[in-house]
Amino acid sequence: MNSFLKATGFTHFLLEKFLRSGEIVIDATVGNGYDTLFLAQAVGASGLVYAFDIQENALQKTKILLEKNNCLQQVNLIHDGHEKISQYVREPVAAIIYNLGYLPGGNKEIITKGETTLLSLQQGMELLRSGGIISLIVYPGHPGGKKEADLLEQYLTSLSPRIWQVMKWSRVNGDRVKAPCFLCLHKS
Ligand SMILES: C[S@@+](CC[C@H](N)C(=O)[O-])C[C@H]1O[C@@H](n2cnc3c(N)ncnc32)[C@H](O)[C@@H]1O
Repeated sequence: MNSFLKATGFTHFLLEKFLRSGEIVIDATVGNGYDTLFLAQAVGASGLVYAFDIQENALQKTKILLEKNNCLQQVNLIHDGHEKISQYVREPVAAIIYNLGYLPGGNKEIITKGETTLLSLQQGMELLRSGGIISLIVYPGHPGGKKEADLLEQYLTSLSPRIWQVMKWSRVNGDRVKAPCFLCLHKS
């Protein structure tokens, strides 16, 4: 499948229109590090990426990926839950990426949870600068995923459109129930 048509490819396609070198951004779910690498390359050596994951092995693998691509210097890898974002990040940020669910190739029982994702999102929304963007990929197809997706969408529908533009990109044909869904918040 064309990478643009995958939710992850779509995230990068959209965010690169918004990001400039030197900016401060957050990867809230490091996983295998592909989003962290994308962000690190987008903001460049003069920028900063705060990158969170609760799994040490995800951070180790990502460190190697960043080193190989000469991007480690602009990334702060944080072994902690994204629900503690505001303890680590104090300055306004230009973008935040959430790619929810479990670590591909890892333990499928270690998943993001709606309650902690929501806590993190609310802190991230406070940190986001005007004109900034938050993207979320949610996976309703795995156990626990639908509950998380429903909780997030319920919250997002309640946001004032005067401050937040919230958009959704999802599959219309084929297996719609299990397909990932892309959500995006833009702050006025
Ligand atoms: C789908 S993966 C992320 C994929 C990744 N962005 C990439 O480019 O490969 C989800 C990740 O979220 C992590 N995670 C789960 N709960 C978390 C939490 N509370 N805070 C931060 N990361 C968490 C998991 O350990 C897993 O590595």
